[in-house]
Amino acid sequence: RPKVTLNTIKSLYKKNIPIASLTAHDFPSGIVADRAGVDLVLVGDSLAMVALGYDNTNQITMDEMLSHCRAVARGSKAPFLVADLPFGTYEVSPEQALESSIRLIREAKMEGVKLEGGIEMAATIKKITTAGIPVIGHIGLTPQRSASLGGFRVQARTATGARKLLRSAQALQEAGCFAILLEAVPAPVAKFVTQALTIPTIGIGAGNQCSGQVLVQLDMLGSFDRFTPKFVKKYADAFETNSAAIAEYVRDVKERSFPGEEHAYSMRNEDDIKKLE
Ligand code: KIV
Ligand code: NA
Repeated sequence: RPKVTLNTIKSLYKKNIPIASLTAHDFPSGIVADRAGVDLVLVGDSLAMVALGYDNTNQITMDEMLSHCRAVARGSKAPFLVADLPFGTYEVSPEQALESSIRLIREAKMEGVKLEGGIEMAATIKKITTAGIPVIGHIGLTPQRSASLGGFRVQARTATGARKLLRSAQALQEAGCFAILLEAVPAPVAKFVTQALTIPTIGIGAGNQCSGQVLVQLDMLGSFDRFTPKFVKKYADAFETNSAAIAEYVRDVKERSFPGEEHAYSMRNEDDIKKLE
């Protein structure tokens, strides 16, 4: 597969070909996304919940994020690689945000970063993009800010809310973002924002008129059984498939039907068996 660059993303957008994005959180999930033809791989901080078992995304540290990004980068070669800036690593100042972004690029082979927030993050985004690091702005439902949003709720459900969302999107575009992620907003609102921008929108729970889509890999594979948001389509039931496979293995071990002869090694000289008796 040819390497997906920022130019590839721009060209898909210009040709109105949806940008297929997916999260990955480790080496195998990075490989599988690459092999399946994903354009943009996001090492999202959702990995805190789906892969590390935290209650929310705000507990993951930069060191944990760096470690997962490195694993994804080892497996995912063609897709454009973007990492979430973890909570607490970019809000203090534009300088802090740039330093954190540089770490993800230099220490973990990421090619761009994503951060949550609207107009108030414009100066921060400008700082990062001016340093030559591609940025995705994330607006609508921003999980790192769920406490101040009053929970995980659909955003911009009114005309006023929609116009405010558009102003945020335009400010982020102006600040130099190469794409805007829209999470949990009504489909007509996402369409309205997408049409008003000159950069692609990537939707999750934002209808099918965005310039691209993203899902959390472990959600869409059915590997995360705690809860499933309305916007997730389960393309597989990995939790069930894997549990059944592991239960069968346990049975086989208890019954000594695994390993079979085909999984066992023989001695170089069969006569040597007698010498062991
Ligand atoms: O962390 C994440 O996976 C995200 C989603 C919106 C894809 O930010
Ligand atoms: Na995220």
